[in-house]
Amino acid sequence: MNTATIKQYDERFKNISYEVMDGVAFIGFGHNNDKSMTVLNEETLRDLDAIADELTAKKKELSGAIFFTHKERCFLAGADISLIAAMKTEADGARGAEAGQMIFNKIEDLPFPTIACVHGVCLGGGTEFSLSCKTILMSDDKSTIMGLPEVKLGLIPGFGGTYRLPRRIGIPNALDIILTGKTINARKGKKLGLADEVYPKERIVQMALEKHLTKKKADASFKESLTDLAQSNIISRKIIFSKARESVLKKTKGFYQAPLKILDTMESGTLSGRSSYLSREAQAFGELCVSEQSKNLQHIYFMTEKVKKYSGPKGEGELPQLDRGACLGAGTMGGGIAWLMSNVSMAPIMKDLNTDALELGLKQAANNYSGALKRKRLSAEDFERKMRSITCQTDYSGFEKVDLLIEAIIEDMNIKKSVFSETEKYMRDDALITSNASSLSVEEMASALERPERFAGLHFFNPVHMMPLVEIITHSKVAPETVEALYNWVLRAKKTPVVVKDGPGFLVNRILMPFLNEAGFLLEEGVSMKDLDDACTNFGMPMGPCRLLDEVGIDVAVKVAKILHDGLGDRAKSSSLSAKMAEKGYLGKKSSKGFYIYDEKGKPAGFNEGAQKLLNAPKKVMSETEIQMRVILPMINEAAIILDEGIVDHAADVDLGLIFGIGFPPFRGGLLRYADSEGPDRILAAIEKFEKSVDKDRYKPADFLRKLVENKTKFYEA
Ligand SMILES: NC(=O)c1ccc[n+]([C@@H]2O[C@H](COP(=O)([O-])OP(=O)(O)OC[C@H]3O[C@@H](n4cnc5c(N)ncnc54)[C@H](O)[C@@H]3O)[C@@H](O)[C@H]2O)c1
Repeated sequence: MNTATIKQYDERFKNISYEVMDGVAFIGFGHNNDKSMTVLNEETLRDLDAIADELTAKKKELSGAIFFTHKERCFLAGADISLIAAMKTEADGARGAEAGQMIFNKIEDLPFPTIACVHGVCLGGGTEFSLSCKTILMSDDKSTIMGLPEVKLGLIPGFGGTYRLPRRIGIPNALDIILTGKTINARKGKKLGLADEVYPKERIVQMALEKHLTKKKADASFKESLTDLAQSNIISRKIIFSKARESVLKKTKGFYQAPLKILDTMESGTLSGRSSYLSREAQAFGELCVSEQSKNLQHIYFMTEKVKKYSGPKGEGELPQLDRGACLGAGTMGGGIAWLMSNVSMAPIMKDLNTDALELGLKQAANNYSGALKRKRLSAEDFERKMRSITCQTDYSGFEKVDLLIEAIIEDMNIKKSVFSETEKYMRDDALITSNASSLSVEEMASALERPERFAGLHFFNPVHMMPLVEIITHSKVAPETVEALYNWVLRAKKTPVVVKDGPGFLVNRILMPFLNEAGFLLEEGVSMKDLDDACTNFGMPMGPCRLLDEVGIDVAVKVAKILHDGLGDRAKSSSLSAKMAEKGYLGKKSSKGFYIYDEKGKPAGFNEGAQKLLNAPKKVMSETEIQMRVILPMINEAAIILDEGIVDHAADVDLGLIFGIGFPPFRGGLLRYADSEGPDRILAAIEKFEKSVDKDRYKPADFLRKLVENKTKFYEA
């Protein structure tokens, strides 16, 4: 049977098709619209509720209900996040959750077989809906995934997911899925018992009809195993939950409320019946959905959704098609870029000066695939094919076929300029040339080219396969089509683009600069490396400035700091500490000694006494909050100057850049959202205090910040 044969839809339901044939109800999601995804918005929920009532009313006539999708790659993508974002009170949130729970309860209570034929994306509310059906079938299509990602938005699944999932797959597996928000493919779904069976997408509905219209009750064995575990083995239950709590605290350092609330709700409700459990779940959902933390995470979700579509200036010309790639340089960045290009099927050329360098680059590319190979997300054949698609060479042969070139050679303006003018001769007029330079002027590099309109900066972060952000750096002669094509390409490469005007340090490194510079001054004042790094990680930064400098390389940091000082003036001056360390050979992780010393595996094994000896100041005890403010406030001040100069257009660009570029703590919603939540007036007052007590240049308040305060407005409102 093919779902296309179902044509006589019931007119009462607008968004969901409903048709009864031979006593079986066929209910199709994603009906009557041309969107690629189906979300559980108000209309869909209303239809689903009405259908649940219809099925209940017809229970004597029906022998089963089969739920399927009309979409190519989506079953149900989950609840409409804007509904959640609109919730203003805990009671609103709890009521919203209860409304969904009631619909899914009705589905669960139907006395005949109910089958969810899951094909495509099925997340959040979609998975919770499927769990209310007696049988779940998954298609073996690549697009088919299930999961409960609510925790990533600082939420608990609120439509019965935390009640039904452990009853289907057991507490430990359910905790793993709910606490991580991970997605499960069909193979894993079957293994866990989430899916009863897996079929090709073309046959899934037919198989449901032929083989699965049998299960009239939820699978008893899972319920029994849960009850067994809960009742007869209280100790095992305690161990499972306490281990999960321990692992959550280790991973999140206690910054995130949602996973802990999920654990409390699930543990305290293990023995509860459905209605009392679900009201606890709804209550917990209500509390979390209006929490500042969840609102911050929702804010990031909306920012990342917005970024998925280019919204900058458009040109009149056709957008260049970027099919074939090339990378100049096979070093740390070049190897990563060649990996990325091979991963998005661009059959890249990797060019370096000699074969030794190329071998290293190729090794780097292969290493970047190892995670996907290990997790079986990539087959050995696909790995071989992708690696074979990288052509290593020392000359320019084949460059006439290249559509996108990314340069990642040594950071030297004169060398880069001469390499650009040479390379351009081998490339077509319509090809794009980009530079991954981290601190050199894109405007000046563009001047070396005959076709500057086809050139831009494309700044990746290290390591390329892990870091999601890519800065697209514009200059006065770049064509809008170039920027738009690069933007679309970055999205295609599954990275997050941010468009930045040229300027010293572009966006992320420029805002990172005061964080690292202030760290040097604090150490010179006598604050210990430990107090400094601890204060920053306790703020939520992924690592403290000493560790970060060691990762970046102290010599690199000295070089970049000089460029920023030259470009931005005295507010960007740095302490002399890094230069002294570089002189001593304390270059950070790469030399096994920096602020920390490192073992053979590259793990920090205590502080470097030698670096400590370079600091003469007596030990100074400073409060954690003061240390945090000393490093965070000048970042906010620099971001204000960046907005004033139009380096980026909006506060959201700064926040996305810092979250995805340096891991600024997501639960704070971003640097400027944090500043807004504190209040620009308080931020300004604190900067003025440091201007007087610490340094008049480094803490000179930005005019933009003063104007915000004068106009009683905020970064996100300006
Ligand atoms: N390493 C980082 O963390 C990082 C991050 C972002 C951007 N960048 C920038 O990326 C670029 C490359 O940095 P890296 O860390 O990969 O450097 P690297 O020293 O690891 O590699 C540079 C490679 O370029 C090769 N090379 C030099 N001249 C060449 C030429 N004319 N043609 C072809 N190959 C040539 C070298 O042989 C070397 O293999 C620099 O501009 C750097 O500022 C680096």
